[in-house]
Amino acid sequence: MTEIPRQILITSALPYANGPIHLGHLVEYIQTDIWARFQRARGHNAIYVCADDAHGTPIMLKARAEGITPEELIARVRTEHEADFADFLVGFDHYHSTHSEENRACATRIYTSLKAGGHIAVRTIEQAYDPEAGMFLPDRFIKGACPKCGAADQYGDSCEVCGATYSPIDLVDPVSAISGARPVARESEHYFFQLADFEPFLREWTGSGRLQNAIRNKLNEWFEAGLADWDISRDAPYFGFQIPDAPGKFFYVWLDAPIGYMASFMAHAEQHGLDFDAWWGAGSETEMYHFIGKDIAYFHTLFWPAMLHGAGFRTPTAVFCHGFLTVNGQKMSKSRGTFIRARDYLDHLNPEALRYYFAAKLGSGVDDIDLSLDDFVQRVNSDLVGKLVNIASRCAGFLTKRFEGALADTLPRPDLHRQFVDAGDVIAEHYEGREYSQAVRHVMALADQANQYIDEARPWVLIKDPERGAEVQGICSQGLDLFRILVIYLAPVLPRLAERAGSFLNRADLSWAAREEPLTGGTIRPYEALMTRIEPAAVEALLEASKASLAPTKAAAETGTPAAGAPGGKAPAPSAEGAGATPTAAALEPIAETIDYDTFAKVDLRVARIVTAEHVEGADRLLRLALDLGGEQRQVFAGIRSAYRPEDLAGRLTVMVANLAPRKMRFGVSEGMVLAAGPGGGDIFLLTPDEGAQPGMRVK
Ligand code: 2FM
Ligand code: ZN
Repeated sequence: MTEIPRQILITSALPYANGPIHLGHLVEYIQTDIWARFQRARGHNAIYVCADDAHGTPIMLKARAEGITPEELIARVRTEHEADFADFLVGFDHYHSTHSEENRACATRIYTSLKAGGHIAVRTIEQAYDPEAGMFLPDRFIKGACPKCGAADQYGDSCEVCGATYSPIDLVDPVSAISGARPVARESEHYFFQLADFEPFLREWTGSGRLQNAIRNKLNEWFEAGLADWDISRDAPYFGFQIPDAPGKFFYVWLDAPIGYMASFMAHAEQHGLDFDAWWGAGSETEMYHFIGKDIAYFHTLFWPAMLHGAGFRTPTAVFCHGFLTVNGQKMSKSRGTFIRARDYLDHLNPEALRYYFAAKLGSGVDDIDLSLDDFVQRVNSDLVGKLVNIASRCAGFLTKRFEGALADTLPRPDLHRQFVDAGDVIAEHYEGREYSQAVRHVMALADQANQYIDEARPWVLIKDPERGAEVQGICSQGLDLFRILVIYLAPVLPRLAERAGSFLNRADLSWAAREEPLTGGTIRPYEALMTRIEPAAVEALLEASKASLAPTKAAAETGTPAAGAPGGKAPAPSAEGAGATPTAAALEPIAETIDYDTFAKVDLRVARIVTAEHVEGADRLLRLALDLGGEQRQVFAGIRSAYRPEDLAGRLTVMVANLAPRKMRFGVSEGMVLAAGPGGGDIFLLTPDEGAQPGMRVK
């Protein structure tokens, strides 16, 4: 069966050029790379491009803090990113930067067409300005007390304590996180992309099978809420591209970020003599897929197709969203050592182990995936070492020692060969549909079958009988033939192991079609371990190293970078500034002003049992808790969603302020407050009384 080769352009989201790649990012790059490798193995022309996302305020400020130019910073980070990707075997056809001439040309061209089409409006808006730093402040760079609940030290867009969202102008006693100065309101002209001009097109586009159901539902909500104009300009000083004919105005980082896909492809096309227009022109017959985290769907399913369409380019064939990564069931946490950088992982463990584990967990949906470290060790050791590689190591020895590596001329069980070959159709369908966990399950069931075949044939017994040498040669050749087919099926996931297996078997062709040809007649090379067991101690050492490399230092300003697919990243609103770095307060908060005993005694602290916990629609940081105070039930909204999954909380004891006046919130009335420690994000620790405490007991 030969298919006509497809022309497929594949992208992963562009990582910000101000922080390291971590395991949260890798879910996406590994997912995409597997798909690209699979398509190539099937004989298609799949081109996989990516780039660093190099513009925006956080990058400008980080460079400033390090005393280097933004160009120096992004060059250094790009080198680190490329090394991390290469070592995780993520095989881009091209890796570029949004700070490139190709991207400037593409961004300018798109903007100019949108403007000519009447889709750009210019309006004066009022914004917070830092008079000392001489710049406008993104919301995340303004801090102050929450206008709703009074909590100190909240960001300019929303309160982590009560979940209120507001504009930075409403903060009580706001200060600039850059200079500490009090921001003033200042007017400035901004450029807006009129997204609503494209509503009919977008409704059509998003409704035609290009998106996962969960994302399509989200889009319907966005359509209902109305498509607002998108502010695409930022005032100097800004690290980015100046807007044509608009001195002092720059493209907002998110405008030229997706255009980076186009720019990266353009650079690749120039190097390889490809026809750019055949891939990007309106009506192109090539396919184009974007793999992204679900937090950046708005940009990729509304702004991006509208920009492309408005500027006369083709639009994506589909956008594939994935969920976030949790580690041991929780958001990655620096203090637990589970915020793991790619480089720290590589220093301790085999990249293919992680590729395999992610594949074994990934489906086509937007659910979060969990890296449970014990399960990771167990799964990799049992599947890859215990089952897959075991087939080869069991068979190779006999052939090398007794037959000088010669394979049999025919297989004793051609039916088994046929069955394994035929399974490739279903496995391919799973890969194509991004149901990697199903593909892996299928392959492992076949591996069990191959091992069972060898168990039953018992070559180690037959070898003792000089008359039955040929039989042993046949059995071992059959075992290696089945092994080779399985390796072909897993090659998109385990490219290095596959390559080494190919050279051990003297069969370099690992394409899907090559599985048909039985492994007979040639010779093999001596077997060398293709995969070794993961020692739990290596995982422990990795966690320790992660803790150490992320210990809070002044330079660690990338704290909480909500990069693509990163856990702990708050789903950014469409207006979110790029490169999620937010300035962080010192690790330890100063002790508050003294209060007298009577004031303290007024606070009624009680042991409470969490009866239920659930997400609150429309509040990224809140959980709604039903608390039992020993007979009395209370509803409390707690800003702990970034650190806890609701299902892990039900049944657990904690401590609450029971006599706090009820507060009316957007989502209902909050009747008290639970107590927790920690800086926020994944690091929030609910207080838990010792065993024996009962709901309702007073805490004194
Ligand atoms: O969220 C992020 O990490 C962005 N740097 C992703 C950009 S993807 C694309 F639009 F460039
Ligand atoms: Zn608040």
